Amino acid sequence: MSTPVELRAALADRLTKDGTLTEHAWESAVRAVPRELFVGTYFTPLAGSVPTSYRPVRKGEPGWLEGIYDDLTLVTQLDGRTGPEDTAGETATGVPSSSSTLPSVVLRMWQQLDAEAGHRVLEIGTGTGYSTALGAHRLGDGNITSIEYDPVIGAAAAAAIKAAEFSPRLIIGDGLRGDPGGGQYDRLIATCSVRYIPLSWLHQVKPGGRILVTLSGWSYANALALLDVTAPGEATGRFLADPTSFMIARPHDRPPRPTLDLLPGEERPTLIDPTTLDSWTGGWVAQLAAPGAIRMGAGGQQILWDLATGSQARTALGPDNGWTVTQRGPVALWDQVERAVQSWQTAGEPHQDHFGITVSATGQRVWLGAEDGPSWNLPI
Ligand SMILES: C[S@@+](CC[C@H](N)C(=O)[O-])C[C@H]1O[C@@H](n2cnc3c(N)ncnc32)[C@H](O)[C@@H]1O
Repeated sequence: MSTPVELRAALADRLTKDGTLTEHAWESAVRAVPRELFVGTYFTPLAGSVPTSYRPVRKGEPGWLEGIYDDLTLVTQLDGRTGPEDTAGETATGVPSSSSTLPSVVLRMWQQLDAEAGHRVLEIGTGTGYSTALGAHRLGDGNITSIEYDPVIGAAAAAAIKAAEFSPRLIIGDGLRGDPGGGQYDRLIATCSVRYIPLSWLHQVKPGGRILVTLSGWSYANALALLDVTAPGEATGRFLADPTSFMIARPHDRPPRPTLDLLPGEERPTLIDPTTLDSWTGGWVAQLAAPGAIRMGAGGQQILWDLATGSQARTALGPDNGWTVTQRGPVALWDQVERAVQSWQTAGEPHQDHFGITVSATGQRVWLGAEDGPSWNLPI
């Protein structure tokens, strides 16, 4: 059986070999920070279960330590309340609300943030504290502040960070409001996603500083954005090529909603193939076009439901084997999605790294190609 030191070294070797780790200082952090101090008992998804069932992998059971050094996300809380230790039965179901993100993504993002010695960094979403400890190892305790929304998760992270002998500044609170103590940062990194860039971040990061955050929404589509703050309250940036997804920041999550009743509406042939929405970028473009809607269904049977107005759109196979859409309500959701997907298709269906983002007090826009290209307003 391998020791934690051997498993850490193997992880560092693997991430170096596959090109994830390109900076020696981050490789040293992987070799030094014991992930097992941060994770404890974790949930593992049961393959093929619908909805996904999770089995707690208890601290110390066979495979527990090896699982911690797999390059995998380890879920540590469901539905904002159920930890792996709370699971009385064999399995639990729920939506993951906290986790230790897979090391390759954490390290790729730390490197993409391009933080240098002496930079002050604000992290949003402490989670288990593993990514915070990596940052503290690389940049120094005094340069890292991390905010966690959930007090139970935050307290466990604080204990783990202390046990690992790091001492960054830790805050329990809503990271979307920024550091309540004020202060100016050179870099901001978020390990939860947002529907739009919180204005507080645009004032807390210095002009010339950077924000790395995943933009997501109510239809589960994600894209990783790297923004340069250009002036107080203003930033512009590009989306990065690596498909990256994070759980949505709790205040940006979908509101509670009743069960959806599918109702009659106006039917017509669709101008786009509904299965396009199942592709990574196609689904994201659809979400940009209908940011107030949640998307359900899959393949040819897509369902969009606008939570504010109750508007619905659903696609189905028509009698002549073509796709149809049925829409009802004040917002023509499918018309919006069709126009956006057609713009994207006209541009040759580029990946997310062909999109950019501009944000200021007057609004937030995601654009395709160039700032004057097709664009969509974020729901701020
Ligand atoms: C994917 S986990 C973080 C992973 C973590 N960085 C790690 O390496 O273990 C996302 C975390 O963001 C937290 N979160 C969600 N909304 C937040 C908010 N508004 N402010 C701060 N933290 C938030 C969640 O509670 C969760 O613990």
